[in-house]
Amino acid sequence: MPDKRLPKVELPKDVRLDTIAVREGLPPSAWGENSEALFLTSSFVQPDAASAAARFANEEEAFIYSRFSNPTVTMFERRLAALEGTQACIAAASGMGAILLMGLGLLKAGDHVICSQSVFGATIMLLGREFAKFGVETSFVSQTNVAEWRRALKSNTKLLFAESPTNPLTEVCDIRALSAIAKEAGALLAVDNCFCSPALQRPVQYGADIVIHSGTKYLDGQGRVIAGALCASEKLVEEKFVPVMRSAGMSLSPFNAWVVLKGLETLSIRMQAQSARALQLASWLEEQDGVERVYYPGLKSHPQHELAMAQQSGSGAAVVSFIVDGAKKGGATLARKNAFHVIDSTRVCSITANLGDPKTTITAPRMGA
Ligand SMILES: Cc1ncc(COP(=O)(O)O)c(C=O)c1O
Repeated sequence: MPDKRLPKVELPKDVRLDTIAVREGLPPSAWGENSEALFLTSSFVQPDAASAAARFANEEEAFIYSRFSNPTVTMFERRLAALEGTQACIAAASGMGAILLMGLGLLKAGDHVICSQSVFGATIMLLGREFAKFGVETSFVSQTNVAEWRRALKSNTKLLFAESPTNPLTEVCDIRALSAIAKEAGALLAVDNCFCSPALQRPVQYGADIVIHSGTKYLDGQGRVIAGALCASEKLVEEKFVPVMRSAGMSLSPFNAWVVLKGLETLSIRMQAQSARALQLASWLEEQDGVERVYYPGLKSHPQHELAMAQQSGSGAAVVSFIVDGAKKGGATLARKNAFHVIDSTRVCSITANLGDPKTTITAPRMGA
């Protein structure tokens, strides 16, 4: 029987992650380009009606329409899956799009989710408010208290969701322990790996079933595009997520995929440098009189320092959070005043909500509050 799958890049079995980051994807086109091509096309011409029918019916893997798939997007997906150590990956228009895709693919009315209470704010809103409208209940628990996750289990629990380290307080979860709880309950564990990226942490090594990414952050690494991805087994991606993507359409644009694909080529070296620099900054901040507390997993003072060092290869990603002196004692108004004063006193930092940019960025998480 002829092979109905897309061709693969043939790499030696023992290649290192840095080689995967520049080589994995699809073989070059007939023109033999060395740098991956950007396929800016919304649809693809089919050779004949019978092939078109077989491709639409998913009997043969091919490109049909860029809401379903596109060669540049596929290159990004294959490369990220190889870096994360998963069989497959499906790209999404944003990190939140990837989380939405996960929820639409896995959950139905009457299902229950357990989520860390420390994850990114938009994730809390999506699970706690938007999914609740469709009859999916979410219990929010302490990121670091494994017993709380276990106590929150219900007979209808389908998904456990954590982010490690969390945005912004850099709490680290024990991925192995959460995976064991999920497995016992017949649920899946998803980990948002945005802060570490596969260059510093591969959650599937510790038992995670799904890895979520905001490609907007370190994967692009240059603050240019919004992108997202979900990495998992081929079975989950093919059976649960591809059908949703085809009809719901939170697809990643080929242009954004190309930008992030090229970003992956320098991911490892950037993450090493940025996390080393973040540790220097966190250590310096810890010594300043005007700083009440610094949150950075690479610091010995971080409550999950040892766990972070066991799960990650870097010093704790590149985001450092800190509380300005007096903020806790003086209440919300003073906290806000002090934080704004620090932000406005910096000379070259960009005051912006993004992270993972080569330019140092600074923000107060509740600036608008
Ligand atoms: C940990 C984490 N997950 C997900 C997201 C959402 O990503 P996006 O902005 O690409 O939708 C963010 C954004 O800041 C984030 O920090």
